[in-house]
Amino acid sequence: MRTVKIELANKIASTLQETPENCAMLMEYPPNPELGDLALPCFKFAKKLRKNPQQIAHDIAQLLKSATCLESVTVENGYVNMKIRHSVIWNKVFEISSTHIANLFTRQRFLGKRVAIDYSSPNIAKPFGVGHLRSTIIGEALLRMLKEDGFEGIGINHLGDWGTQFGKVIAAYQKWGSEDKVKENPIRELFQLYVRFHQEAEQNPHLEEEARYCFKKLEDGDEETIRLWQWFIKESLTGFEKTYRLLGVHFDHYLGESFYNDKMEAVVEELQDKHLLVESDGAFVVDLSEWNMPPCIIRKSDGTTIYATRDLAAALYRHDKLHADYLLYVVGSEQTLHFQQVFKVLDLMGRDWSSNCVHVAFGLMKFNGEKLSTRRGHVVYLEDVLEKAIQEARSIIESKNPNLSNPDEVARQVGVGAVIFNDLKTYRIHDVDFRYEDVLNFDGETGPYVQYTHARACSVLRKALTTISQEEMNSSVSVPDVALQSFTLTPSEWSLLKQIAQANEFFERAVDQYDPSVIARFALLVSHAFNRFYHDDPILTAPHSIRQRRLDLVRLTKHVLAHTLHLLAIEAPEAM
Ligand code: ARG
Repeated sequence: MRTVKIELANKIASTLQETPENCAMLMEYPPNPELGDLALPCFKFAKKLRKNPQQIAHDIAQLLKSATCLESVTVENGYVNMKIRHSVIWNKVFEISSTHIANLFTRQRFLGKRVAIDYSSPNIAKPFGVGHLRSTIIGEALLRMLKEDGFEGIGINHLGDWGTQFGKVIAAYQKWGSEDKVKENPIRELFQLYVRFHQEAEQNPHLEEEARYCFKKLEDGDEETIRLWQWFIKESLTGFEKTYRLLGVHFDHYLGESFYNDKMEAVVEELQDKHLLVESDGAFVVDLSEWNMPPCIIRKSDGTTIYATRDLAAALYRHDKLHADYLLYVVGSEQTLHFQQVFKVLDLMGRDWSSNCVHVAFGLMKFNGEKLSTRRGHVVYLEDVLEKAIQEARSIIESKNPNLSNPDEVARQVGVGAVIFNDLKTYRIHDVDFRYEDVLNFDGETGPYVQYTHARACSVLRKALTTISQEEMNSSVSVPDVALQSFTLTPSEWSLLKQIAQANEFFERAVDQYDPSVIARFALLVSHAFNRFYHDDPILTAPHSIRQRRLDLVRLTKHVLAHTLHLLAIEAPEAM
């Protein structure tokens, strides 16, 4: 569709005194297809051209009469309405996708550029929370999308394996912990200790002091403390990786916060040299009042460095050592101020690439409308969520398709896909609500619905194989190549094809907004269009040449849906 828009825009740009790109951008898809496939509202140009919109629309329509890609041009209420020749889009779509389906989506705009995406980044000895789930899911989809647009992508897990909260867990373990219990179920046990620490600290504020002391010992390299710390990390990582495997997530680097322990002094020194550090109550901070932000704390009064300092060191590392041109941070919107501060300090340090640092923020995830707080021990474990989704998927699949040969695998693909899609279909900055009934609903706007549509397309193609080979044996007439003819599609075929032809526009918008929900929406729209087509137009029972064309459309849809799901890190079973 993009190329058709550009082609049309080229014809009218000079008359409208606009760039072709702008003209193309102003073309809309009318909500009512009766009106046309594309519309250009002309109100915007009235002032500049000193003509009324209706007159402009007439002039434009005149110019477009010669466009061979158009079937008709009409003018109504200041709009130019265009109907596109079906065969034009058909030929373009099949030509572009013939070498690789990805070509329908991408122009590889960022070849030669490198992006580092910081995502998931859970905290060790705390549970993998739902915020981390959102970050993992959005980050993985983003990485896949950006790579497809030409970027060389580096996925980084900025593990929270350092920080004062670590002192708490170590203090708690030394008071109440048991080695056996930790070994048995490390993630839960360590979290229980963390929760108990907070409960008891309400009664006994002295505990906070102890935790600070423990953390200090860690920073000072006390042997026993270090041993415990390393053990906690090892056990927790095993737990996280189990979840990542289930989600199909892979990181290029695990570079935890502790990795920057020996890289922060250089940051502090540079800030000092550049006269950016000021003392405030014994702490060292960068004053950001000029930009209406609270000061960025670099070193606390007890000498410990903090989160921001580590992020400064990490940013320098990613840019200087990993040679990333863009740094993305997929982190909840509650950390917006933190990233604004960090990026500003980088800017003040003279790093012009700080303008390529982006906080890809996202909203909360609620369970049945309720917000979770880890501190109070009110927590949903991710592995439980996924396990339950898989179980529920399994029982749905068993009742729908008892003869499936690989029900376990499909249940995993569908259960996990349901959780991922539920997250990604929402505009990322909005809060997400999670209810099992909703996310697994095969008829709702869900992952299973898209997967099911894909499986339905596969099933049509499987059936076609048996039916057609039978018939082909009985006929020696070769199949005419419909792609080369001029022809008219049924309304349902046409809306499906038109929807698919917008892949590139959806894809680029998703990349430009760093928002996978745009792609999830595309998956839903293609699925709706396919199911309408499947319902309206007979495929296997249609006359020979029409059947060929419909099967081409089914095959195209199958590949488009599989690829779209792949971009979202969701698997596409061929039967379910
Ligand atoms: N571990 C942090 C948290 O759970 C998220 C880290 C995000 N990445 C970063 N570079 N600060 O809040």
